[in-house]
Amino acid sequence: MPETITITDDRTGKTVTVPIEGGVFPSSALRELDPTLYCYDPAYLSTASTKSSITYLDGANGILRYGGYPIEQLAEKSTYLEVAYLLLNGDLPNETQLTEWTHDVTHHTFIHENMRKKFAEGFHYDAHPMGMFVSAIAALGTFYTGSKDVDDPAQRNIQIRRLIAKSPTIAAMCYKFSVGLPYNQPSNELSYAANFLNMMWKIGDYEVDPILERAMDVLFILHADHEQNCGTTAMRVIGSSHADPYSSAAGAASALYGPLHGGANEAVVRMLTEIGSIDNVPAFLESVKNGEGRLMGFGHRVYKNFDPRATIIKETAYKVFEVTGKNPLLDVALKLEEAALADPYFVDRKLYPNVDFYSGLIYQAMGFPTSMFTVLFAIPRMVGWLAHWQELLNDPAQKISRPRQWYDGPGERNYIDLANR
Ligand code: CMC
Repeated sequence: MPETITITDDRTGKTVTVPIEGGVFPSSALRELDPTLYCYDPAYLSTASTKSSITYLDGANGILRYGGYPIEQLAEKSTYLEVAYLLLNGDLPNETQLTEWTHDVTHHTFIHENMRKKFAEGFHYDAHPMGMFVSAIAALGTFYTGSKDVDDPAQRNIQIRRLIAKSPTIAAMCYKFSVGLPYNQPSNELSYAANFLNMMWKIGDYEVDPILERAMDVLFILHADHEQNCGTTAMRVIGSSHADPYSSAAGAASALYGPLHGGANEAVVRMLTEIGSIDNVPAFLESVKNGEGRLMGFGHRVYKNFDPRATIIKETAYKVFEVTGKNPLLDVALKLEEAALADPYFVDRKLYPNVDFYSGLIYQAMGFPTSMFTVLFAIPRMVGWLAHWQELLNDPAQKISRPRQWYDGPGERNYIDLANR
Protein backbone atom coordinates (compact mmCIF):
# COMPACT_ATOMS: atom_id res chain seq x y z
CA MET A 1 0.00 0.00 0.00
CA PRO A 2 1.56 3.35 -0.98
CA GLU A 3 2.18 5.70 1.96
CA THR A 4 0.94 8.71 0.00
CA ILE A 5 -2.19 10.81 -0.35
CA THR A 6 -3.48 12.27 -3.60
CA ILE A 7 -5.65 15.37 -3.56
CA THR A 8 -7.54 16.59 -6.59
CA ASP A 9 -8.85 20.12 -6.96
CA ASP A 10 -12.09 19.49 -8.82
CA ARG A 11 -12.27 23.12 -9.89
CA THR A 12 -9.11 22.82 -11.97
CA GLY A 13 -8.56 19.07 -12.23
CA LYS A 14 -5.07 19.61 -10.81
CA THR A 15 -3.79 16.71 -8.70
CA VAL A 16 -1.01 16.54 -6.14
CA THR A 17 0.43 13.47 -4.41
CA VAL A 18 2.41 13.85 -1.17
CA PRO A 19 3.86 11.35 1.34
CA ILE A 20 2.12 10.31 4.54
CA GLU A 21 4.67 9.91 7.33
CA GLY A 22 3.64 8.87 10.85
CA GLY A 23 0.01 9.51 9.92
CA VAL A 24 0.75 13.08 8.82
CA PHE A 25 0.90 14.69 5.38
CA PRO A 26 2.40 18.13 4.70
CA SER A 27 -0.08 20.96 4.14
CA SER A 28 2.26 22.22 1.40
CA ALA A 29 0.17 19.87 -0.79
CA LEU A 30 -2.65 22.43 -0.61
CA ARG A 31 -0.32 25.30 -1.47
CA GLU A 32 0.92 23.33 -4.47
CA LEU A 33 -2.66 22.96 -5.71
CA ASP A 34 -3.56 26.58 -5.11
CA PRO A 35 -1.57 28.99 -2.89
CA THR A 36 -4.80 30.73 -1.83
CA LEU A 37 -6.37 27.49 -0.57
CA TYR A 38 -6.58 26.96 3.20
CA CYS A 39 -7.80 24.17 5.42
CA TYR A 40 -10.62 25.12 7.86
CA ASP A 41 -9.72 23.45 11.17
CA PRO A 42 -11.25 25.16 14.25
CA ALA A 43 -9.41 24.19 17.46
CA TYR A 44 -6.75 22.40 15.37
CA LEU A 45 -8.61 19.09 15.49
CA SER A 46 -6.71 17.75 12.45
CA THR A 47 -3.63 19.94 12.45
CA ALA A 48 -0.10 19.02 13.59
CA SER A 49 1.58 22.38 14.12
CA THR A 50 5.05 21.00 14.73
CA LYS A 51 7.33 17.98 14.72
CA SER A 52 8.35 17.19 18.30
CA SER A 53 10.55 14.59 19.95
CA ILE A 54 9.66 15.42 23.55
CA THR A 55 6.49 13.50 24.42
CA TYR A 56 4.65 10.65 22.70
CA LEU A 57 0.92 10.32 23.27
CA ASP A 58 -1.29 7.58 21.84
CA GLY A 59 -4.79 8.50 22.95
CA ALA A 60 -6.48 5.43 21.50
CA ASN A 61 -4.33 3.10 23.60
CA GLY A 62 -3.77 5.27 26.69
CA ILE A 63 0.01 5.55 26.13
CA LEU A 64 2.13 8.45 27.38
CA ARG A 65 5.93 8.49 27.12
CA TYR A 66 8.49 11.20 27.83
CA GLY A 67 11.52 10.79 25.54
CA GLY A 68 10.41 7.20 24.90
CA TYR A 69 10.14 6.25 28.60
CA PRO A 70 6.65 5.06 29.68
CA ILE A 71 5.02 7.39 32.21
CA GLU A 72 4.34 4.39 34.49
CA GLN A 73 8.09 3.64 34.80
CA LEU A 74 9.00 7.27 35.35
CA ALA A 75 6.31 7.67 38.03
CA GLU A 76 7.59 4.57 39.81
CA LYS A 77 11.36 5.03 39.54
CA SER A 78 12.27 8.58 38.62
CA THR A 79 12.17 12.02 40.22
CA TYR A 80 10.75 15.27 38.93
CA LEU A 81 14.18 16.88 38.41
CA GLU A 82 15.41 13.82 36.49
CA VAL A 83 12.28 13.97 34.31
CA ALA A 84 12.76 17.71 33.81
CA TYR A 85 16.29 17.03 32.55
CA LEU A 86 14.95 14.30 30.25
CA LEU A 87 12.33 16.62 28.73
CA LEU A 88 14.86 19.39 28.14
CA ASN A 89 17.76 17.24 26.92
CA GLY A 90 16.12 14.22 25.31
CA ASP A 91 17.72 11.69 27.66
CA LEU A 92 17.98 10.81 31.34
CA PRO A 93 21.00 12.39 33.05
CA ASN A 94 23.99 10.35 34.22
CA GLU A 95 25.08 10.80 37.83
CA THR A 96 27.37 13.78 37.17
CA GLN A 97 24.78 15.51 34.99
CA LEU A 98 22.05 14.96 37.59
CA THR A 99 24.21 16.31 40.41
CA GLU A 100 25.06 19.42 38.39
CA TRP A 101 21.46 19.95 37.23
CA THR A 102 20.06 19.49 40.76
CA HIS A 103 22.65 21.91 42.11
CA ASP A 104 21.81 24.50 39.44
CA VAL A 105 18.07 24.34 40.05
CA THR A 106 18.43 24.26 43.83
CA HIS A 107 20.65 27.35 43.79
CA HIS A 108 18.23 29.45 41.77
CA THR A 109 15.18 29.11 44.01
CA PHE A 110 15.35 32.53 45.68
CA ILE A 111 13.40 35.43 44.20
CA HIS A 112 14.22 39.14 44.40
CA GLU A 113 12.92 40.69 47.60
CA ASN A 114 10.90 43.21 45.57
CA MET A 115 8.82 40.31 44.26
CA ARG A 116 7.60 39.57 47.78
CA LYS A 117 7.70 42.96 49.43
CA LYS A 118 6.43 45.17 46.65
CA PHE A 119 4.92 43.09 43.86
CA ALA A 120 2.94 40.54 45.89
CA GLU A 121 1.87 43.09 48.48
CA GLY A 122 0.11 45.07 45.74
CA PHE A 123 -2.56 42.42 45.18
CA HIS A 124 -6.01 42.55 46.74
CA TYR A 125 -6.14 40.51 49.95
CA ASP A 126 -8.32 37.79 48.37
CA ALA A 127 -6.53 37.62 44.98
CA HIS A 128 -6.72 34.19 43.33
CA PRO A 129 -3.26 32.55 43.66
CA MET A 130 -3.32 31.47 39.99
CA GLY A 131 -3.95 35.06 38.86
CA MET A 132 -1.03 36.08 41.08
CA PHE A 133 1.13 33.25 39.69
CA VAL A 134 0.48 34.27 36.06
CA SER A 135 1.36 37.89 36.81
CA ALA A 136 4.38 37.00 38.94
CA ILE A 137 5.91 34.83 36.21
CA ALA A 138 5.61 37.70 33.71
CA ALA A 139 6.96 40.19 36.27
CA LEU A 140 9.94 37.96 37.07
CA GLY A 141 11.25 38.42 33.53
CA THR A 142 11.73 42.14 34.17
CA PHE A 143 14.44 41.28 36.71
CA TYR A 144 16.56 39.53 34.04
CA THR A 145 17.37 41.75 31.08
CA GLY A 146 19.24 38.85 29.40
CA SER A 147 15.94 36.99 29.11
CA LYS A 148 15.28 38.88 25.88
CA ASP A 149 18.32 37.29 24.20
CA VAL A 150 16.34 34.25 23.11
CA ASP A 151 18.85 33.48 20.34
CA ASP A 152 21.67 33.00 22.85
CA PRO A 153 21.73 29.37 24.09
CA ALA A 154 23.58 30.36 27.28
CA GLN A 155 20.84 32.88 28.14
CA ARG A 156 18.14 30.34 27.32
CA ASN A 157 19.75 27.83 29.69
CA ILE A 158 19.96 30.21 32.60
CA GLN A 159 16.37 31.44 32.16
CA ILE A 160 15.14 27.83 31.97
CA ARG A 161 16.87 27.02 35.26
CA ARG A 162 15.49 30.16 36.88
CA LEU A 163 11.91 29.50 35.81
CA ILE A 164 11.96 25.87 36.99
CA ALA A 165 13.68 26.79 40.25
CA LYS A 166 11.55 29.81 41.11
CA SER A 167 8.09 28.49 40.17
CA PRO A 168 7.61 26.69 43.53
CA THR A 169 8.89 29.77 45.40
CA ILE A 170 6.40 32.00 43.58
CA ALA A 171 3.60 29.48 44.09
CA ALA A 172 4.24 29.32 47.84
CA MET A 173 4.47 33.12 47.95
CA CYS A 174 1.03 33.41 46.31
CA TYR A 175 -0.46 31.03 48.86
CA LYS A 176 1.19 32.68 51.86
CA PHE A 177 -0.03 36.09 50.71
CA SER A 178 -3.60 34.79 50.29
CA VAL A 179 -3.72 33.57 53.91
CA GLY A 180 -1.65 36.39 55.41
CA LEU A 181 1.11 34.15 56.73
CA PRO A 182 4.85 34.99 56.71
CA TYR A 183 6.84 33.62 53.77
CA ASN A 184 9.27 30.73 54.21
CA GLN A 185 12.57 30.97 52.36
CA PRO A 186 13.64 28.12 50.04
CA SER A 187 15.85 25.49 51.63
CA ASN A 188 18.86 24.14 49.68
CA GLU A 189 19.00 20.92 51.73
CA LEU A 190 15.62 19.68 50.55
CA SER A 191 14.47 17.98 47.34
CA TYR A 192 12.47 19.97 44.78
CA ALA A 193 9.14 18.63 46.10
CA ALA A 194 10.11 18.79 49.79
CA ASN A 195 11.36 22.37 49.41
CA PHE A 196 7.99 23.36 47.97
CA LEU A 197 6.03 21.62 50.75
CA ASN A 198 8.32 23.22 53.31
CA MET A 199 7.75 26.71 51.89
CA MET A 200 4.01 26.02 51.95
CA TRP A 201 3.59 24.58 55.42
CA LYS A 202 6.60 25.17 57.66
CA ILE A 203 5.52 26.59 60.96
CA GLY A 204 7.40 25.63 64.15
CA ASP A 205 8.84 22.10 64.02
CA TYR A 206 7.05 21.03 60.80
CA GLU A 207 8.92 18.35 58.85
CA VAL A 208 7.98 17.11 55.39
CA ASP A 209 6.42 13.63 55.47
CA PRO A 210 8.42 11.41 53.05
CA ILE A 211 5.23 9.76 51.68
CA LEU A 212 3.71 13.16 50.89
CA GLU A 213 7.05 14.34 49.43
CA ARG A 214 7.09 11.33 47.08
CA ALA A 215 3.39 11.82 46.20
CA MET A 216 4.08 15.47 45.34
CA ASP A 217 7.04 14.43 43.19
CA VAL A 218 4.93 11.79 41.38
CA LEU A 219 2.23 14.40 40.71
CA PHE A 220 4.92 16.75 39.38
CA ILE A 221 6.21 13.98 37.07
CA LEU A 222 2.71 13.23 35.76
CA HIS A 223 2.03 16.89 35.00
CA ALA A 224 5.45 17.73 33.52
CA ASP A 225 4.44 17.57 29.86
CA HIS A 226 1.57 16.59 27.63
CA GLU A 227 2.66 17.57 24.11
CA GLN A 228 0.58 20.13 22.20
CA ASN A 229 -2.15 20.94 24.75
CA CYS A 230 -3.73 24.39 25.01
CA GLY A 231 -1.12 25.87 27.39
CA THR A 232 1.88 24.47 25.51
CA THR A 233 0.44 25.67 22.22
CA ALA A 234 0.07 29.13 23.80
CA MET A 235 3.74 28.93 24.86
CA ARG A 236 4.79 28.04 21.33
CA VAL A 237 2.62 30.72 19.71
CA ILE A 238 3.93 33.45 22.00
CA GLY A 239 7.50 32.10 21.85
CA SER A 240 7.33 32.13 18.05
CA SER A 241 7.31 35.94 18.17
CA HIS A 242 10.62 35.68 20.09
CA ALA A 243 9.06 37.11 23.25
CA ASP A 244 11.11 36.31 26.36
CA PRO A 245 10.39 32.98 28.11
CA TYR A 246 8.82 34.65 31.18
CA SER A 247 6.18 36.44 29.08
CA SER A 248 5.63 33.28 27.04
CA ALA A 249 5.27 31.13 30.17
CA ALA A 250 2.84 33.66 31.69
CA GLY A 251 0.70 33.26 28.55
CA ALA A 252 0.89 29.48 28.81
CA ALA A 253 -0.10 29.67 32.48
CA SER A 254 -3.09 31.86 31.54
CA ALA A 255 -4.25 29.18 29.12
CA LEU A 256 -3.82 26.56 31.84
CA TYR A 257 -5.97 28.64 34.22
CA GLY A 258 -9.19 27.90 32.28
CA PRO A 259 -11.65 25.31 33.69
CA LEU A 260 -11.50 23.21 30.52
CA HIS A 261 -7.72 22.83 30.98
CA GLY A 262 -5.71 23.00 34.23
CA GLY A 263 -8.56 24.69 36.09
CA ALA A 264 -10.53 21.43 35.91
CA ASN A 265 -9.02 19.98 39.11
CA GLU A 266 -10.46 22.90 41.07
CA ALA A 267 -13.81 22.46 39.29
CA VAL A 268 -13.84 18.72 40.15
CA VAL A 269 -13.63 19.33 43.88
CA ARG A 270 -16.30 22.05 43.67
CA MET A 271 -18.50 19.60 41.74
CA LEU A 272 -17.93 16.75 44.23
CA THR A 273 -18.65 19.09 47.13
CA GLU A 274 -21.91 20.19 45.50
CA ILE A 275 -22.95 16.56 44.87
CA GLY A 276 -22.20 15.97 48.55
CA SER A 277 -23.28 12.34 48.88
CA ILE A 278 -23.35 9.16 46.79
CA ASP A 279 -27.16 9.27 46.87
CA ASN A 280 -27.06 12.40 44.71
CA VAL A 281 -24.82 10.88 42.02
CA PRO A 282 -27.60 9.54 39.72
CA ALA A 283 -29.44 12.89 39.69
CA PHE A 284 -26.18 14.72 39.00
CA LEU A 285 -25.35 12.46 36.05
CA GLU A 286 -28.87 13.01 34.65
CA SER A 287 -28.32 16.77 34.82
CA VAL A 288 -25.03 16.38 32.89
CA LYS A 289 -26.77 14.27 30.27
CA ASN A 290 -29.48 16.93 30.00
CA GLY A 291 -26.78 19.44 29.09
CA GLU A 292 -26.90 21.32 32.40
CA GLY A 293 -23.13 21.07 32.91
CA ARG A 294 -20.12 18.85 32.35
CA LEU A 295 -18.78 16.00 34.42
CA MET A 296 -15.54 17.75 35.31
CA GLY A 297 -12.40 15.59 35.30
CA PHE A 298 -13.91 13.41 32.55
CA GLY A 299 -13.13 13.43 28.85
CA HIS A 300 -10.08 14.36 26.87
CA ARG A 301 -9.38 15.63 23.38
CA VAL A 302 -6.80 12.89 22.79
CA TYR A 303 -7.39 10.03 25.26
CA LYS A 304 -10.35 7.98 24.10
CA ASN A 305 -9.73 4.83 26.14
CA PHE A 306 -8.14 5.84 29.43
CA ASP A 307 -5.75 8.48 30.71
CA PRO A 308 -2.71 6.62 32.10
CA ARG A 309 -2.01 9.54 34.44
CA ALA A 310 -5.43 9.10 36.07
CA THR A 311 -4.62 5.45 36.89
CA ILE A 312 -1.35 6.42 38.63
CA ILE A 313 -3.00 9.32 40.45
CA LYS A 314 -5.73 7.07 41.81
CA GLU A 315 -3.07 4.72 43.27
CA THR A 316 -1.17 7.70 44.68
CA ALA A 317 -4.37 8.98 46.32
CA TYR A 318 -4.63 5.84 48.46
CA LYS A 319 -0.99 6.23 49.63
CA VAL A 320 -1.63 9.86 50.56
CA PHE A 321 -4.84 9.04 52.42
CA GLU A 322 -2.89 6.60 54.64
CA VAL A 323 -1.02 9.65 55.97
CA THR A 324 -3.72 12.32 55.83
CA GLY A 325 -6.84 10.23 56.40
CA LYS A 326 -9.35 9.56 53.63
CA ASN A 327 -10.78 12.52 51.80
CA PRO A 328 -14.55 12.27 52.48
CA LEU A 329 -15.22 13.18 48.84
CA LEU A 330 -13.44 9.99 47.67
CA ASP A 331 -16.61 7.91 48.01
CA VAL A 332 -18.56 10.37 45.87
CA ALA A 333 -15.77 10.33 43.26
CA LEU A 334 -15.61 6.52 43.18
CA LYS A 335 -19.40 6.23 42.82
CA LEU A 336 -19.44 8.90 40.13
CA GLU A 337 -16.69 7.12 38.17
CA GLU A 338 -18.43 3.75 38.50
CA ALA A 339 -21.82 5.13 37.44
CA ALA A 340 -20.41 7.16 34.51
CA LEU A 341 -18.37 4.24 33.18
CA ALA A 342 -21.54 2.13 33.13
CA ASP A 343 -23.64 4.79 31.43
CA PRO A 344 -24.01 4.69 27.61
CA TYR A 345 -23.85 8.52 27.40
CA PHE A 346 -20.25 8.51 28.68
CA VAL A 347 -19.27 5.14 27.15
CA ASP A 348 -20.49 6.11 23.65
CA ARG A 349 -18.59 9.40 23.79
CA LYS A 350 -15.47 7.65 25.12
CA LEU A 351 -15.39 9.79 28.26
CA TYR A 352 -13.06 8.49 30.98
CA PRO A 353 -11.51 10.06 34.10
CA ASN A 354 -8.63 12.35 33.18
CA VAL A 355 -5.64 13.57 35.20
CA ASP A 356 -7.78 16.07 37.07
CA PHE A 357 -10.43 13.70 38.42
CA TYR A 358 -8.46 12.44 41.45
CA SER A 359 -5.61 14.96 41.74
CA GLY A 360 -7.82 17.53 43.48
CA LEU A 361 -8.75 14.99 46.15
CA ILE A 362 -5.05 14.44 46.91
CA TYR A 363 -4.32 18.15 47.00
CA GLN A 364 -7.27 18.75 49.31
CA ALA A 365 -6.22 15.92 51.65
CA MET A 366 -2.71 17.43 51.77
CA GLY A 367 -4.21 20.72 52.93
CA PHE A 368 -4.07 22.80 49.74
CA PRO A 369 -7.02 25.15 49.23
CA THR A 370 -8.86 24.61 45.92
CA SER A 371 -7.59 27.96 44.65
CA MET A 372 -4.04 26.50 44.65
CA PHE A 373 -4.87 23.45 42.52
CA THR A 374 -4.11 24.97 39.12
CA VAL A 375 -0.94 26.49 40.55
CA LEU A 376 0.08 22.94 41.54
CA PHE A 377 -0.38 21.96 37.88
CA ALA A 378 1.57 24.99 36.63
CA ILE A 379 4.70 24.35 38.76
CA PRO A 380 5.66 21.08 37.03
CA ARG A 381 4.21 22.04 33.61
CA MET A 382 6.75 24.87 33.53
CA VAL A 383 9.39 22.42 32.29
CA GLY A 384 7.10 21.13 29.53
CA TRP A 385 6.47 24.68 28.34
CA LEU A 386 10.21 25.41 28.37
CA ALA A 387 11.16 22.19 26.60
CA HIS A 388 8.73 23.05 23.78
CA TRP A 389 9.91 26.66 23.70
CA GLN A 390 13.51 25.50 23.31
CA GLU A 391 12.54 22.95 20.64
CA LEU A 392 10.62 25.64 18.74
CA LEU A 393 13.55 28.05 18.75
CA ASN A 394 15.91 25.32 17.49
CA ASP A 395 13.52 24.20 14.73
CA PRO A 396 14.41 25.74 11.35
CA ALA A 397 10.93 24.87 10.02
CA GLN A 398 9.24 27.18 12.53
CA LYS A 399 8.30 30.79 11.89
CA ILE A 400 6.09 33.26 13.75
CA SER A 401 2.67 31.62 14.29
CA ARG A 402 0.10 33.16 12.04
CA PRO A 403 -2.91 31.03 11.06
CA ARG A 404 -5.31 32.16 8.35
CA GLN A 405 -9.04 32.77 8.80
CA TRP A 406 -12.18 32.08 6.78
CA TYR A 407 -13.79 35.52 6.60
CA ASP A 408 -17.50 35.26 7.36
CA GLY A 409 -18.47 38.91 7.93
CA PRO A 410 -20.27 41.54 5.84
CA GLY A 411 -19.03 42.58 2.42
CA GLU A 412 -17.94 46.15 1.76
CA ARG A 413 -20.48 48.79 2.89
CA ASN A 414 -20.47 52.55 3.35
CA TYR A 415 -19.93 54.24 6.69
CA ILE A 416 -23.19 55.48 8.28
CA ASP A 417 -23.13 58.71 10.26
CA LEU A 418 -23.97 58.30 13.97
CA ALA A 419 -27.24 60.24 13.66
CA ASN A 420 -28.50 57.85 10.96
CA ARG A 421 -27.77 54.49 12.71
N1 CMC B 1 -19.09 15.80 30.61
C1 CMC B 1 -20.15 15.59 29.81
N2 CMC B 1 -20.11 15.52 28.47
C2 CMC B 1 -18.91 15.68 27.91
C3 CMC B 1 -17.74 15.89 28.66
C4 CMC B 1 -17.86 15.94 30.07
N3 CMC B 1 -16.81 16.12 30.85
N4 CMC B 1 -16.68 16.01 27.83
C5 CMC B 1 -17.16 15.88 26.59
N5 CMC B 1 -18.51 15.67 26.64
C6 CMC B 1 -19.40 15.42 25.50
C7 CMC B 1 -19.68 16.68 24.74
O1 CMC B 1 -20.83 17.31 25.21
C8 CMC B 1 -19.86 16.14 23.34
O2 CMC B 1 -21.14 15.55 23.26
P1 CMC B 1 -22.00 15.66 21.90
O3 CMC B 1 -21.21 14.90 20.88
O4 CMC B 1 -23.32 15.07 22.23
O5 CMC B 1 -22.08 17.13 21.58
C9 CMC B 1 -18.83 15.00 23.25
O6 CMC B 1 -18.68 14.55 24.61
C10 CMC B 1 -17.48 15.43 22.71
O7 CMC B 1 -17.01 16.53 23.50
P2 CMC B 1 -16.15 17.72 22.97
O8 CMC B 1 -16.43 18.93 23.79
O9 CMC B 1 -16.31 17.84 21.48
O10 CMC B 1 -14.70 17.18 23.25
P3 CMC B 1 -13.39 18.05 23.27
O11 CMC B 1 -12.31 17.17 22.81
O12 CMC B 1 -13.57 19.34 22.58
O13 CMC B 1 -13.22 18.41 24.83
C11 CMC B 1 -12.54 18.43 27.06
C12 CMC B 1 -12.30 17.84 25.67
C13 CMC B 1 -11.43 17.94 28.00
C14 CMC B 1 -12.46 19.95 27.00
C15 CMC B 1 -13.92 17.97 27.56
O14 CMC B 1 -13.97 16.56 27.63
C16 CMC B 1 -14.30 18.60 28.88
O15 CMC B 1 -14.83 19.71 28.91
N6 CMC B 1 -14.04 17.90 30.03
C17 CMC B 1 -14.32 18.45 31.32
C18 CMC B 1 -13.20 19.41 31.70
C19 CMC B 1 -11.95 18.66 32.08
O16 CMC B 1 -11.97 17.69 32.85
N7 CMC B 1 -10.80 19.16 31.57
C20 CMC B 1 -9.49 18.59 31.89
C21 CMC B 1 -8.83 17.98 30.70
S1 CMC B 1 -7.41 16.98 31.15
C22 CMC B 1 -6.26 18.10 31.74
C23 CMC B 1 -5.70 18.96 30.70
O17 CMC B 1 -4.90 18.48 29.89
O18 CMC B 1 -6.05 20.13 30.67
